[in-house]
Amino acid sequence: MLGKFIVFEGIDGAGKTTQLDLLGRELENRGYPVVYTREPGGTRVGELIREILLNPLYGELAPRAEAFLYAAARAQLVAQVIIPALEAGKIVLCDRFVDSSLAYQGFGRGMDILMLEQINRPAIAGLVPDLVLLLDFCCDDAIDRLSRSGRGADRIEQEQQEFYRRVRLGYLSLAGREPGRYNIIDANRPVDLVLCDILKAVGEVLNEVTERNNRA
Ligand code: TYD
Repeated sequence: MLGKFIVFEGIDGAGKTTQLDLLGRELENRGYPVVYTREPGGTRVGELIREILLNPLYGELAPRAEAFLYAAARAQLVAQVIIPALEAGKIVLCDRFVDSSLAYQGFGRGMDILMLEQINRPAIAGLVPDLVLLLDFCCDDAIDRLSRSGRGADRIEQEQQEFYRRVRLGYLSLAGREPGRYNIIDANRPVDLVLCDILKAVGEVLNEVTERNNRA
């Protein structure tokens, strides 16, 4: 594949979308062709699936059905957007990919990781990100803020915090399995410092592309 596939991962509120946009603009300024996309969604069909997944109206959605829907939206995105863009030599920046399913459905909701990997195998059709930028964000700060305010976290808030803690640790454990492909970025810092680390991590991937273009 000619292009490069760069994925942003992390818990909600880690600043993925902001950083993805900033990185994309920086790459465009340097003359790289960039494709922006996100999960779930990024295609017409995927956005419809996103509506089912994220709309509280469909609260009856069974966990396995949820996992299949994430995988279905992913399969469409891979086939319709990501593979064609990579074949055309573009840099694809994707807000979440298969690790979101492993971290949220697996580590967060307790579904079997092996089963999730099996569901996702045909969806991703062998596609592996060149780089996963894991924006590691400490959700404890939010709990601290609540307790300092004297309000204390209520049950739902506490459950949510517990969930995000599991998801965060899940991400860190996925990154630990393949340290070469993951870059863990401390996202509890000002936007420009986070971006600086991201640019450093992406630098190696870019060098590869530049060297290849120079040779061509
Ligand atoms: P996202 O678009 O990042 O949320 P937002 O735009 O509100 O920041 O992701 C939507 C939600 O879907 C997010 O809570 C994570 C969840 N998600 C999963 O649980 N599994 C998945 O496979 C994916 C891609 C997302």
